[in-house]
Amino acid sequence: MSKLKSILVWDLPTRLWHWFTAAAIFYAWFSIEFLENMDHHFWAGYTALCLILFRLIWGLVGGTPSRFSEFFRAISNLRGYNATLLQRDSTSYLGHNPMGAIAALLMMLCIAIQVVTGLFNTDDYFFGPLSGLVDTELRNLLGRIHEWNFDLLTAFIVLHIAAIGFYQFYKKQSLTKAMINGRKTTTAKEEVGFKFVSLWLALAILLACAAAVYALANCCADSIPSGEIYF
Ligand code: HEM
Ligand code: HEM
Repeated sequence: MSKLKSILVWDLPTRLWHWFTAAAIFYAWFSIEFLENMDHHFWAGYTALCLILFRLIWGLVGGTPSRFSEFFRAISNLRGYNATLLQRDSTSYLGHNPMGAIAALLMMLCIAIQVVTGLFNTDDYFFGPLSGLVDTELRNLLGRIHEWNFDLLTAFIVLHIAAIGFYQFYKKQSLTKAMINGRKTTTAKEEVGFKFVSLWLALAILLACAAAVYALANCCADSIPSGEIYF
């Protein structure tokens, strides 16, 4: 019987990115729906913006399984994957499976739409930092997209958690454990060949993203209608 070996799949920045993004999105919703605290909503939103910028760059330069090129490679196997979807003992994938790669890309796009539309949104008391750059009609449209897209994002999250549950209970594969400790097991004898990059690079990218968000949050204060509260 081939021996199982455990290998690193999700590097630390990808894992931290995942759990902090989930927390930021949860808090963005909680702060507005339950606390009715727009300050907190903006902070959670800026955090999600910083994180999604980071992940877009990490998808180009990060560890092999976190790269978008790997996502597209996985998606090219979609046909074969669909054929084995309901088999309990089908192959476990070292990175995302084809459906997981599609879902990851769609969720990232949805998060990006949420944060970008938020920047232009207003409740007529608190103003998103870019809300003064667009006319009222466009601002209202972006505000509605912010509202509708959140419903779409919620649907993706519910589906996402259901898919993880399907893998856990039907296929007996714990994807969550791998998103916590980064490791998956494989029977492959040959080297898998994944490459990982320095954590210092991740930190430098994160700081650059935080600086960009700070600049964006403060760039256009002059365009916000005067006399109104601007965060
Ligand atoms: C707001 C909630 C959540 C959002 C927005 C979210 C989003 C995402 C995204 C975008 C990815 C792709 C990660 C990447 O390639 O960097 C991902 C992967 C993953 N998420 Fe979540 N997630 C959420 C909650 C959860 C929860 C609660 C769990 C655990 C029960 C979970 C478990 C996982 C796992 C295991 C993967 C890797 C899937 C795979 O192996 O293909 N997520 N998630
Ligand atoms: C992933 C991040 C975000 C999530 C999940 C999120 C979610 C939400 C939700 C659920 C609402 C209530 C929608 C409604 O019923 O009208 C809302 C409203 C709002 N959001 Fe966000 N948001 C995010 C990011 C942002 C950002 C980055 C900003 C601006 C910096 C922002 C600014 C606003 C404003 C001003 C409102 C109030 C709109 C109104 O009351 O009409 N949001 N957001």
